[in-house]
Amino acid sequence: MTAKTTMKAVRIHAYGGPDVLQLEEMPRPEPRANEMLIRVQAAGVNPVDWKIREGHFPAPLPLIMGIDFSGKVESVGREISDYRVGDAVFGQVADESGGYAEYVLAVAPSVARKPEGLDDVRAAALPVASLTAWQALFDTAGLEAGQKVLIHAAAGGVGGFAVQFAKWKGAHVIGTASADHADFVRQLGANEVIDYRKTKFEEAVRDVDVVLDTIGGDTQERSWRVLKRGGTLVSLVQPPAQEKAAAHGARGILVRQKPRGDQLAKIADLVVSGKIKVTVETVLPLQGARKAQELSQTGHAGGKIVLEVK
Ligand SMILES: NC(=O)c1ccc[n+]([C@@H]2O[C@H](COP(=O)([O-])OP(=O)(O)OC[C@H]3O[C@@H](n4cnc5c(N)ncnc54)[C@H](OP(=O)(O)O)[C@@H]3O)[C@@H](O)[C@H]2O)c1
Repeated sequence: MTAKTTMKAVRIHAYGGPDVLQLEEMPRPEPRANEMLIRVQAAGVNPVDWKIREGHFPAPLPLIMGIDFSGKVESVGREISDYRVGDAVFGQVADESGGYAEYVLAVAPSVARKPEGLDDVRAAALPVASLTAWQALFDTAGLEAGQKVLIHAAAGGVGGFAVQFAKWKGAHVIGTASADHADFVRQLGANEVIDYRKTKFEEAVRDVDVVLDTIGGDTQERSWRVLKRGGTLVSLVQPPAQEKAAAHGARGILVRQKPRGDQLAKIADLVVSGKIKVTVETVLPLQGARKAQELSQTGHAGGKIVLEVK
Protein backbone atom coordinates (compact mmCIF):
# COMPACT_ATOMS: atom_id res chain seq x y z
CA MET A 1 0.00 0.00 0.00
CA THR A 2 1.38 3.45 -0.88
CA ALA A 3 1.60 6.13 1.82
CA LYS A 4 -1.31 8.55 1.98
CA THR A 5 -0.43 11.79 0.19
CA THR A 6 -3.61 13.71 0.84
CA MET A 7 -5.07 15.38 3.91
CA LYS A 8 -8.32 16.84 5.15
CA ALA A 9 -8.45 20.63 5.39
CA VAL A 10 -11.04 23.37 5.74
CA ARG A 11 -10.62 25.66 2.73
CA ILE A 12 -12.38 28.55 1.06
CA HIS A 13 -12.55 29.03 -2.73
CA ALA A 14 -14.38 32.37 -2.48
CA TYR A 15 -14.81 35.02 0.19
CA GLY A 16 -18.12 35.12 2.00
CA GLY A 17 -20.23 33.90 4.92
CA PRO A 18 -19.68 30.70 6.94
CA ASP A 19 -21.11 28.58 4.10
CA VAL A 20 -17.95 29.12 1.99
CA LEU A 21 -16.03 26.91 4.46
CA GLN A 22 -15.47 23.49 2.91
CA LEU A 23 -13.95 20.40 4.50
CA GLU A 24 -12.01 18.81 1.63
CA GLU A 25 -9.45 16.18 0.78
CA MET A 26 -6.42 17.91 -0.81
CA PRO A 27 -2.75 17.16 -1.50
CA ARG A 28 -0.58 17.08 1.59
CA PRO A 29 2.00 19.91 1.32
CA GLU A 30 5.75 19.28 1.01
CA PRO A 31 8.06 21.33 3.24
CA ARG A 32 10.49 23.69 1.50
CA ALA A 33 14.12 23.79 2.71
CA ASN A 34 13.34 26.14 5.63
CA GLU A 35 10.01 24.57 6.62
CA MET A 36 8.75 21.62 8.60
CA LEU A 37 5.65 19.56 7.99
CA ILE A 38 3.62 19.16 11.19
CA ARG A 39 0.85 16.66 11.92
CA VAL A 40 -1.80 18.83 13.58
CA GLN A 41 -3.46 17.76 16.83
CA ALA A 42 -5.36 20.97 17.50
CA ALA A 43 -5.98 24.28 15.71
CA GLY A 44 -6.81 27.58 17.40
CA VAL A 45 -9.64 29.79 16.13
CA ASN A 46 -9.25 33.58 16.12
CA PRO A 47 -11.48 36.47 14.95
CA VAL A 48 -8.96 37.14 12.16
CA ASP A 49 -10.01 33.79 10.64
CA TRP A 50 -13.57 34.94 9.87
CA LYS A 51 -12.22 38.33 8.79
CA ILE A 52 -9.98 36.55 6.26
CA ARG A 53 -12.96 34.39 5.20
CA GLU A 54 -14.97 37.54 4.49
CA GLY A 55 -12.13 39.00 2.40
CA HIS A 56 -10.89 41.75 4.74
CA PHE A 57 -7.28 40.60 4.18
CA PRO A 58 -7.16 39.48 0.53
CA ALA A 59 -4.88 36.52 -0.29
CA PRO A 60 -4.70 34.05 -3.20
CA LEU A 61 -7.58 31.53 -3.23
CA PRO A 62 -8.23 28.79 -2.46
CA LEU A 63 -6.80 29.10 1.03
CA ILE A 64 -6.80 26.92 4.12
CA MET A 65 -8.26 28.63 7.16
CA GLY A 66 -6.49 29.12 10.46
CA ILE A 67 -3.17 30.37 11.83
CA ASP A 68 -2.60 28.63 15.20
CA PHE A 69 -1.74 24.96 15.63
CA SER A 70 -0.25 22.38 17.97
CA GLY A 71 1.11 19.06 16.73
CA LYS A 72 4.10 16.82 16.01
CA VAL A 73 6.87 17.27 13.45
CA GLU A 74 6.33 14.81 10.58
CA SER A 75 9.26 15.82 8.34
CA VAL A 76 11.76 18.68 8.06
CA GLY A 77 13.32 20.67 5.20
CA ARG A 78 17.10 20.41 4.79
CA GLU A 79 17.81 23.78 6.46
CA ILE A 80 15.97 22.84 9.69
CA SER A 81 18.47 21.83 12.36
CA ASP A 82 16.72 22.61 15.66
CA TYR A 83 13.75 20.29 15.26
CA ARG A 84 13.41 16.58 14.52
CA VAL A 85 10.69 14.22 13.40
CA GLY A 86 8.41 13.49 16.37
CA ASP A 87 9.05 16.75 18.27
CA ALA A 88 5.94 18.28 19.84
CA VAL A 89 5.61 21.89 18.70
CA PHE A 90 3.04 24.67 18.54
CA GLY A 91 2.93 28.04 16.83
CA GLN A 92 1.76 29.82 13.70
CA VAL A 93 1.62 28.42 10.15
CA ALA A 94 3.80 29.51 7.23
CA ASP A 95 2.34 31.69 4.46
CA GLU A 96 0.03 29.67 2.21
CA SER A 97 -0.51 27.05 4.93
CA GLY A 98 -3.49 26.90 7.29
CA GLY A 99 -4.19 25.47 10.72
CA TYR A 100 -7.64 23.92 10.13
CA ALA A 101 -5.99 20.88 8.52
CA GLU A 102 -4.39 17.53 9.27
CA TYR A 103 -0.95 18.89 8.30
CA VAL A 104 0.59 22.37 8.29
CA LEU A 105 3.87 23.91 7.19
CA ALA A 106 5.78 26.21 9.55
CA VAL A 107 9.18 27.92 9.75
CA ALA A 108 11.30 27.46 12.88
CA PRO A 109 11.13 31.08 14.20
CA SER A 110 7.30 30.88 14.30
CA VAL A 111 7.12 27.78 16.52
CA ALA A 112 8.13 26.70 20.01
CA ARG A 113 8.58 23.32 21.64
CA LYS A 114 5.44 22.23 23.46
CA PRO A 115 6.31 21.38 27.06
CA GLU A 116 4.91 18.09 28.42
CA GLY A 117 2.71 19.91 30.91
CA LEU A 118 0.86 21.73 28.15
CA ASP A 119 -1.76 19.76 26.20
CA ASP A 120 -2.39 20.32 22.47
CA VAL A 121 -5.75 22.05 22.93
CA ARG A 122 -4.38 24.72 25.26
CA ALA A 123 -1.18 25.05 23.19
CA ALA A 124 -3.24 25.70 20.03
CA ALA A 125 -5.16 28.42 21.87
CA LEU A 126 -1.99 30.39 22.64
CA PRO A 127 -0.16 31.77 19.60
CA VAL A 128 -2.11 34.68 18.08
CA ALA A 129 -4.01 35.73 21.22
CA SER A 130 -1.22 35.46 23.79
CA LEU A 131 1.46 36.95 21.51
CA THR A 132 -0.81 39.88 20.65
CA ALA A 133 -1.33 40.62 24.33
CA TRP A 134 2.38 40.22 25.12
CA GLN A 135 3.61 42.34 22.22
CA ALA A 136 1.00 45.08 22.74
CA LEU A 137 1.60 45.45 26.49
CA PHE A 138 5.33 44.89 26.75
CA ASP A 139 7.01 45.44 23.35
CA THR A 140 4.81 48.37 22.27
CA ALA A 141 3.46 50.08 25.40
CA GLY A 142 6.38 49.13 27.67
CA LEU A 143 4.03 48.36 30.59
CA GLU A 144 5.83 48.27 33.93
CA ALA A 145 5.11 47.22 37.52
CA GLY A 146 3.04 49.80 39.38
CA GLN A 147 1.44 51.24 36.24
CA LYS A 148 -2.29 51.30 35.61
CA VAL A 149 -3.71 49.57 32.52
CA LEU A 150 -7.23 49.53 31.07
CA ILE A 151 -7.95 46.39 29.02
CA HIS A 152 -11.04 46.44 26.80
CA ALA A 153 -12.77 43.09 26.16
CA ALA A 154 -10.93 41.61 29.13
CA ALA A 155 -12.91 38.35 28.81
CA GLY A 156 -11.89 37.85 25.17
CA GLY A 157 -9.11 35.77 23.70
CA VAL A 158 -6.53 38.57 23.72
CA GLY A 159 -7.96 40.41 26.73
CA GLY A 160 -7.88 37.31 28.94
CA PHE A 161 -4.15 36.92 28.38
CA ALA A 162 -3.56 40.67 28.65
CA VAL A 163 -5.20 40.79 32.11
CA GLN A 164 -2.99 37.96 33.34
CA PHE A 165 0.25 39.25 31.80
CA ALA A 166 -0.33 42.75 33.19
CA LYS A 167 -1.07 41.34 36.64
CA TRP A 168 1.99 39.08 36.49
CA LYS A 169 4.09 42.15 35.63
CA GLY A 170 2.77 43.93 38.74
CA ALA A 171 0.44 46.45 37.10
CA HIS A 172 -2.94 47.63 38.42
CA VAL A 173 -5.42 46.04 36.02
CA ILE A 174 -8.84 47.38 35.05
CA GLY A 175 -10.88 45.35 32.57
CA THR A 176 -14.13 45.96 30.71
CA ALA A 177 -16.57 43.07 30.22
CA SER A 178 -20.29 42.39 30.36
CA ALA A 179 -21.77 41.39 33.74
CA ASP A 180 -21.79 37.74 32.57
CA HIS A 181 -17.99 37.72 32.44
CA ALA A 182 -17.16 39.98 35.40
CA ASP A 183 -16.32 37.14 37.83
CA PHE A 184 -14.22 35.41 35.19
CA VAL A 185 -12.17 38.58 34.58
CA ARG A 186 -11.67 39.05 38.34
CA GLN A 187 -10.47 35.45 38.62
CA LEU A 188 -7.91 36.19 35.93
CA GLY A 189 -6.51 38.82 38.27
CA ALA A 190 -8.17 42.12 37.35
CA ASN A 191 -8.26 44.59 40.26
CA GLU A 192 -11.38 46.26 38.86
CA VAL A 193 -13.99 45.17 36.32
CA ILE A 194 -16.27 47.63 34.57
CA ASP A 195 -19.54 46.45 33.02
CA TYR A 196 -19.28 48.29 29.71
CA ARG A 197 -23.02 47.95 29.13
CA LYS A 198 -23.97 49.76 32.35
CA THR A 199 -21.08 52.09 33.12
CA LYS A 200 -19.26 54.59 30.93
CA PHE A 201 -15.68 53.50 31.55
CA GLU A 202 -14.40 57.03 30.89
CA GLU A 203 -16.38 58.22 33.91
CA ALA A 204 -15.07 55.43 36.16
CA VAL A 205 -11.37 55.41 35.27
CA ARG A 206 -8.67 58.05 35.04
CA ASP A 207 -4.89 58.52 34.91
CA VAL A 208 -4.24 55.27 33.13
CA ASP A 209 -0.74 54.61 31.75
CA VAL A 210 -1.82 52.16 29.05
CA VAL A 211 -5.11 51.41 27.27
CA LEU A 212 -5.39 48.18 25.26
CA ASP A 213 -8.05 48.88 22.63
CA THR A 214 -9.47 45.64 21.24
CA ILE A 215 -12.72 47.25 20.01
CA GLY A 216 -12.01 50.49 18.07
CA GLY A 217 -14.67 53.04 17.05
CA ASP A 218 -16.43 54.78 19.90
CA THR A 219 -14.50 52.72 22.49
CA GLN A 220 -11.19 54.01 21.12
CA GLU A 221 -12.52 57.56 20.88
CA ARG A 222 -13.65 57.60 24.53
CA SER A 223 -10.41 55.96 25.68
CA TRP A 224 -8.26 59.08 25.14
CA ARG A 225 -9.93 60.70 28.15
CA VAL A 226 -8.79 58.06 30.63
CA LEU A 227 -5.10 58.27 29.69
CA LYS A 228 -2.63 60.28 31.72
CA ARG A 229 -0.25 62.59 29.83
CA GLY A 230 2.61 60.51 28.52
CA GLY A 231 0.36 57.42 28.40
CA THR A 232 -0.09 55.01 25.50
CA LEU A 233 -3.18 53.83 23.64
CA VAL A 234 -2.39 50.59 21.83
CA SER A 235 -5.05 49.46 19.37
CA LEU A 236 -5.38 46.05 17.76
CA VAL A 237 -8.10 47.07 15.36
CA GLN A 238 -7.93 50.71 14.21
CA PRO A 239 -5.04 53.16 13.74
CA PRO A 240 -5.32 55.76 16.54
CA ALA A 241 -5.67 59.33 15.20
CA GLN A 242 -2.31 61.04 15.72
CA GLU A 243 -3.84 64.49 16.23
CA LYS A 244 -5.94 63.09 19.09
CA ALA A 245 -2.86 61.45 20.61
CA ALA A 246 -1.00 64.78 20.42
CA ALA A 247 -3.96 66.68 21.91
CA HIS A 248 -3.88 64.33 24.93
CA GLY A 249 -0.09 64.32 25.23
CA ALA A 250 -0.19 60.57 24.62
CA ARG A 251 1.04 58.01 22.11
CA GLY A 252 -1.38 56.11 19.87
CA ILE A 253 -0.09 52.97 18.17
CA LEU A 254 -1.67 50.23 16.04
CA VAL A 255 -0.19 46.81 16.75
CA ARG A 256 0.15 44.01 14.25
CA GLN A 257 0.99 40.73 15.95
CA LYS A 258 4.11 38.91 14.73
CA PRO A 259 4.91 35.20 15.03
CA ARG A 260 7.61 34.79 17.72
CA GLY A 261 8.55 31.29 18.80
CA ASP A 262 10.93 32.67 21.46
CA GLN A 263 8.12 34.61 23.15
CA LEU A 264 5.78 31.63 22.85
CA ALA A 265 8.34 29.51 24.71
CA LYS A 266 8.37 32.03 27.60
CA ILE A 267 4.59 32.10 27.68
CA ALA A 268 4.42 28.30 27.68
CA ASP A 269 6.72 28.28 30.74
CA LEU A 270 4.36 30.68 32.52
CA VAL A 271 1.43 28.38 31.68
CA VAL A 272 3.19 25.23 32.86
CA SER A 273 4.27 26.90 36.11
CA GLY A 274 0.63 27.84 36.75
CA LYS A 275 1.12 31.62 36.51
CA ILE A 276 -1.02 31.99 33.38
CA LYS A 277 -4.26 30.12 32.65
CA VAL A 278 -5.45 29.21 29.17
CA THR A 279 -9.23 29.35 29.11
CA VAL A 280 -10.56 27.22 26.28
CA GLU A 281 -14.31 27.65 26.28
CA THR A 282 -15.23 25.56 23.24
CA VAL A 283 -13.60 22.50 21.63
CA LEU A 284 -15.00 21.23 18.32
CA PRO A 285 -13.86 18.70 15.70
CA LEU A 286 -12.48 19.90 12.33
CA GLN A 287 -15.99 19.44 10.85
CA GLY A 288 -17.15 22.03 13.41
CA ALA A 289 -15.13 24.86 11.78
CA ARG A 290 -18.27 26.62 10.63
CA LYS A 291 -19.81 26.57 14.11
CA ALA A 292 -16.50 27.73 15.58
CA GLN A 293 -16.29 30.75 13.28
CA GLU A 294 -19.96 31.61 13.81
CA LEU A 295 -19.34 31.60 17.56
CA SER A 296 -16.17 33.70 17.17
CA GLN A 297 -18.04 36.16 14.98
CA THR A 298 -20.65 36.85 17.69
CA GLY A 299 -17.91 38.84 19.46
CA HIS A 300 -19.07 37.40 22.79
CA ALA A 301 -17.24 34.11 23.10
CA GLY A 302 -15.63 34.14 26.57
CA GLY A 303 -12.26 32.38 26.28
CA LYS A 304 -10.78 30.59 23.30
CA ILE A 305 -12.24 28.28 20.66
CA VAL A 306 -10.16 25.30 19.47
CA LEU A 307 -10.64 22.62 16.79
CA GLU A 308 -9.39 19.15 17.67
CA VAL A 309 -7.85 17.50 14.61
CA LYS A 310 -7.54 13.78 15.14
N1 LIG B 1 -3.77 43.64 15.32
C1 LIG B 1 -3.54 42.38 15.56
O1 LIG B 1 -2.47 41.84 15.26
C2 LIG B 1 -4.63 41.56 16.23
C3 LIG B 1 -4.28 40.35 16.84
C4 LIG B 1 -5.27 39.64 17.51
C5 LIG B 1 -6.59 40.12 17.55
N2 LIG B 1 -6.88 41.26 16.89
C6 LIG B 1 -8.28 41.77 16.91
O2 LIG B 1 -8.57 42.17 18.25
C7 LIG B 1 -9.95 41.96 18.51
C8 LIG B 1 -10.10 41.12 19.80
O3 LIG B 1 -9.64 39.81 19.55
P1 LIG B 1 -10.03 38.61 20.54
O4 LIG B 1 -9.41 37.38 20.02
O5 LIG B 1 -9.75 39.01 21.95
O6 LIG B 1 -11.61 38.59 20.32
P2 LIG B 1 -12.73 37.76 21.07
O7 LIG B 1 -12.14 36.67 21.89
O8 LIG B 1 -13.74 37.39 20.07
O9 LIG B 1 -13.39 38.86 22.05
C9 LIG B 1 -14.62 38.55 22.59
C10 LIG B 1 -14.85 39.41 23.83
O10 LIG B 1 -15.11 40.76 23.48
C11 LIG B 1 -15.90 41.32 24.52
N3 LIG B 1 -16.57 42.53 24.03
C12 LIG B 1 -17.36 42.66 22.93
N4 LIG B 1 -17.74 43.96 22.83
C13 LIG B 1 -17.19 44.65 23.86
C14 LIG B 1 -17.19 46.02 24.27
N5 LIG B 1 -17.84 46.96 23.60
N6 LIG B 1 -16.47 46.36 25.37
C15 LIG B 1 -15.78 45.42 26.07
N7 LIG B 1 -15.75 44.11 25.74
C16 LIG B 1 -16.43 43.73 24.64
C17 LIG B 1 -16.85 40.19 24.84
O11 LIG B 1 -17.20 40.35 26.20
P3 LIG B 1 -18.71 40.09 26.69
O12 LIG B 1 -19.12 38.75 26.06
O13 LIG B 1 -18.56 40.06 28.15
O14 LIG B 1 -19.54 41.19 26.12
C18 LIG B 1 -16.03 38.93 24.61
O15 LIG B 1 -15.55 38.36 25.80
C19 LIG B 1 -10.54 41.28 17.26
O16 LIG B 1 -11.14 42.27 16.46
C20 LIG B 1 -9.31 40.73 16.56
O17 LIG B 1 -9.47 40.56 15.17
C21 LIG B 1 -5.94 42.00 16.23
